[in-house]
Amino acid sequence: MPTVTIKPSGKTQVAAEGSILIDAIIAAGEPIEVKCNRDAKCESCHVFILEGKKSLAKMGRPESEKLDSMVGVASKSRLACQCVLGTENVTVELLGALSG
Ligand code: FES
Repeated sequence: MPTVTIKPSGKTQVAAEGSILIDAIIAAGEPIEVKCNRDAKCESCHVFILEGKKSLAKMGRPESEKLDSMVGVASKSRLACQCVLGTENVTVELLGALSG
C-alpha cells in the first residue's frame, strides 16, 4: 500500500493501490478543492508530483487536454482526481493552498 506524503504540510496518508490520489489528500485532512465532478474539468485539484510519478497510472486524454489549457503547468503537474495510485509511495505538492 503506497504512502502519500503531502507538501507543504508533510502529512502522510496510507492509501490502497488503485485508489485515487485526491481521496488520500482529503483523507489526510488537507485543503484541496473539488469544483467539478472529478472529471478533469475544473483545475482546482492541480498538484505537482514530486516523487513517485511513474507509479501513477498513465494520464488519460481528458486530463492531458485540461493540463494543456492551463497556466502554471510543469512536467510534474497532474490533476489529483485523475491519479490512480500504484504500489510506490508518492510525494505531492498542493498548489491551491499556496495561492490561498
Ligand atoms: S476535481 Fe476538478 S479537475 Fe480534479
